[in-house]
Amino acid sequence: MNNLGYLAGAILLALLAQKAWIRLQLSRAKHRSLTGHSKMARRFAGWVPFYEYDETRFFKADAAPQRIATQRREGFMRLAALFEQRFRKTAALTGEIFAEVSDLQFTSRYRVPFQFSRVVRDHFKAGAFLESSAGVHVTDLDGNRFYDLTGSYGVNVFGYDFYKECIARGSERVRDLGPVLGAYHPVTATNVKRLLEISGLDEISFHMSGTEAVMQAVQLARYHTRRTHLVRFCGAYHGWWGDVQPGVGNPLPARHTYTLEDMDDAALKVLRNRKDIACVLVNPLQALHPNIAAPGDSTLVDSGRSAHFDRAAYSAWLAQLRAVCTERGIVLIFDEVFVGFRLAPGGAQEYFGVRADMVTYGKTLGGGLPVGVVCGRADLMRRFREDRPADICFARGTFNSHPYVMGAMHEFLQQLDSEPVRAIYRDLDQVWDRRAAELNQRLSAAQLPVHVSHLSSIWTLTYSLPSRYNWMFQFYLRAAGLALSWVGTGRLIFSLNYSDADFEAVADRVLSAAAQMARDGWWWQGVGLTNKSIKRRVLRELLRARLGQSRLPQARWDTSSIGSINSPRSR
Ligand SMILES: Cc1ncc(COP(=O)(O)O)c(C=O)c1O
Repeated sequence: MNNLGYLAGAILLALLAQKAWIRLQLSRAKHRSLTGHSKMARRFAGWVPFYEYDETRFFKADAAPQRIATQRREGFMRLAALFEQRFRKTAALTGEIFAEVSDLQFTSRYRVPFQFSRVVRDHFKAGAFLESSAGVHVTDLDGNRFYDLTGSYGVNVFGYDFYKECIARGSERVRDLGPVLGAYHPVTATNVKRLLEISGLDEISFHMSGTEAVMQAVQLARYHTRRTHLVRFCGAYHGWWGDVQPGVGNPLPARHTYTLEDMDDAALKVLRNRKDIACVLVNPLQALHPNIAAPGDSTLVDSGRSAHFDRAAYSAWLAQLRAVCTERGIVLIFDEVFVGFRLAPGGAQEYFGVRADMVTYGKTLGGGLPVGVVCGRADLMRRFREDRPADICFARGTFNSHPYVMGAMHEFLQQLDSEPVRAIYRDLDQVWDRRAAELNQRLSAAQLPVHVSHLSSIWTLTYSLPSRYNWMFQFYLRAAGLALSWVGTGRLIFSLNYSDADFEAVADRVLSAAAQMARDGWWWQGVGLTNKSIKRRVLRELLRARLGQSRLPQARWDTSSIGSINSPRSR
């Protein structure tokens, strides 16, 4: 071979080595959990066999002695009888539509780990209807009044009465135009101005949901950078659109998504070295539990759930992300659909002191009505190219900028500037930090194995003793008059109109519910019971079920039980 041949070979080798190095960096930037490995998670989900406990095994899935199983059974049946009597009307109406509403079937199935689900469903028919809301309460069809900790998926930041007012006043304001679409009601103009002030960005687009807003932001980032991939961080939720849901839950693989480890230098290296990254999506809610998916009780296999919020560390991480995105021309998108307006009037950008190129808002911003909003830099928001008239980035939506939504949003934004609302924000973190500390102090003084972690008014419960039954706590809390969403104790969302007295009442109920649950034997501690031993036991059960299943005709088995394994962590 002549010199030229050697040179060409050496260049080729160097290129291949560089490619391999960049690929290796990507592997290193993935979180070690299944949540960090979408393909593997999907494969695992497809592998998990269905099996369930009968009423005998249900009470001793942790090999508890008969005495404890009996104690648990008595507690369970007492609670079931209370549900039956207290929620009769609400449960009856739910029963009437249950078989026809797929949403209901899904949420009821995934309230608790799948092995326990049937027995729970057979006995706890809580019902999915509510009659009214007022203050921090909601009332069901049987007249039961609950403290609301669902937060309506995060929409309810200021209390339901606040949103009723926004809707009523907003509707009044736009009544003459009514539901005319396409043209804008004049309130839209003031909304535009105010939102651009809040976001510090140049242009805006209106959509109907948070999912759509995220889709639009990513689409625009791809269009303008001419790059293909979006980066999201492990565990983060950005709506149910396929590209941001690359693992379990999406029937197709997301081919243009990188899921990287949150708050990790390896992720920064990937951003620095790859040329195909259009944008980075950040959901600041992950600051409470980086790299872990939304903590639903159906994933409470043991007590391994953890959460901890460190504002300074997360701010520093966002600043690093900002710097690398600027350096590499990557669009930094803050998805504030959940946390926007909950942490600070200027949202997560203000709260963490970092500015994004695009911000998505939704939920509460609609003043109680459905909405999604994208704010962004002018050069990123344009949907056409001056020099290529046929090259456009298409996005429309029939109900975008609906007058009634704009009316309610207008009221929301006006209220945001009012003195009572400003006053709420002034000492927001101190209030919620103090409340969390007080509740934790009371729980630990009572030697109850429950702990609260929080990001301002967004709370999650964790459990300090190894147990297979922590998810039972949601039913004790409901019996104590606290309304939780279907993810149970994984996510408690307070509205900011909770007074100290309201909070005290909630804390009393949490304590009494936990004490009752402890008395009923659910937190029994056997010799050798650890989170590890629980995981090992469940894995053995899975293997046994899987082996049994492969020997039986496929049709006899229900393999739809994927939801409860969407975040088993290997750490
Ligand atoms: C951060 C974030 N982004 C997007 C969405 C999707 O919003 P929507 O449910 O309005 O489509 C959600 C919903 O929970 C969210 O929390």
